[in-house]
Amino acid sequence: MKITDLIADKKSGKAHTEEEINFIINGMLDGRIADYQVSAWLMSVCFQGMTFDESARLTQVMAKSGDILDLSTLGNCIVDKHSTGGVGDKTTLILVPLLAAAGIPIAKFSGAGLGFTGGTIDKLKAIPGFKTSLRMEEFIGQVKEIGAAIACQSENFTPADKKLYELRDVTATVNSIPLIASSVMSKKIAAGANIIVLDVKCGSGAFMQTLKEAKELAETMVEIGKRSDKILSAIISSMDQPLGNAIGNGIEVFESIQTLKNEGPKDLKELCLYLGASGLVKANKIKNIDEGKKRLNKFLENGRAYEKFLEIVKYQGGNTEFVENPARLCETEFAFPLEAEDSGYVERLDAFTAAKASKLLGTGRDKKDDLINYNAGIFLNKKIGDKVYKGDLLAKIYANSVEEGRKSREMLAGAFCLSKEPVNLPELIIDIID
Ligand code: URA
Repeated sequence: MKITDLIADKKSGKAHTEEEINFIINGMLDGRIADYQVSAWLMSVCFQGMTFDESARLTQVMAKSGDILDLSTLGNCIVDKHSTGGVGDKTTLILVPLLAAAGIPIAKFSGAGLGFTGGTIDKLKAIPGFKTSLRMEEFIGQVKEIGAAIACQSENFTPADKKLYELRDVTATVNSIPLIASSVMSKKIAAGANIIVLDVKCGSGAFMQTLKEAKELAETMVEIGKRSDKILSAIISSMDQPLGNAIGNGIEVFESIQTLKNEGPKDLKELCLYLGASGLVKANKIKNIDEGKKRLNKFLENGRAYEKFLEIVKYQGGNTEFVENPARLCETEFAFPLEAEDSGYVERLDAFTAAKASKLLGTGRDKKDDLINYNAGIFLNKKIGDKVYKGDLLAKIYANSVEEGRKSREMLAGAFCLSKEPVNLPELIIDIID
């Protein structure tokens, strides 16, 4: 087999066999195939796409390139959840303790943030002492003991995806649906759960900006999962405005704690209940989504989900005083109010602009090794549909320097657009692909 023939095949739209995909990916890993050849192949995939079968083959080869978690000792109903990334998306922090409180063991591997979307691991690191690197035995042992664990992936986790992503990042080939779907699903398959709930974000603050793209990505991931004997449900949710009111790291943990105490924003709670209920339906624990939402809501009302979060933090070495007094997670030297210059209704609150405003505070990173500010962030007091009077507080910016705070406020002001007419609330859950 020759890589030049395979590049030419893909360039002309031919589908690869399993053997051919193995040859490309393993050749990339052991250095037999040069990076520039893999890059040429990636570009051909971008133009020609891949069939579902091909994408599933690529996913399997990438999943098997490193450690595969064996969760069989935890039972036969292990749920995992994945979000394709959005602004203010802290659903993992809520769903993990919520599902664990409902008796579903959840072993959650998460990532650090890169670019404008935040990562669960960075958010958890805002809690002093919280250990995100766990040995495999520790990780599984914790799930056995308390029903849940959240940790970063091991070094040898899907190395093929890591290498391929690095090449995609520098060759403008990230934005290909079969490549994104295979990348995400390889990590889900290696993470060992048999039930996977996917939250595919759609809108200005997401990878997928249009519903058509989001649907295609969701369908591709579901088809890949089916070919690997996984039970899946994909929800397409709106990311035109940030989820909830908090954007940052510590401030998102703060809001997650409020939500776990049943005092969080409506949209965030609704999405968490929906995603969690989808997991319960797929695990055959309940008949339908409404029943699942009711069941999970009880754990928010009776404090069991909050207690489970506290238990996870304690178990992973985090300082629980910050959970008991979560305002400490977002204490900064400076706070800047953003006030409305006019009266009206919020018509637009652009998620991407809000993410850029948050990043100006140092809450995200451009490069893997960049340091981030854990306590800085934004709290949105108004969201789409809200009535606003001139002088009302639209948002508050928590900053560690005056310059960063002012720049962020200026950027955030551009995210808001007011209308004189009342505005309908946007749909949060747009579609479901089972
Ligand atoms: N997230 C991933 O894990 N992979 C991609 O390719 C894009 C987003």
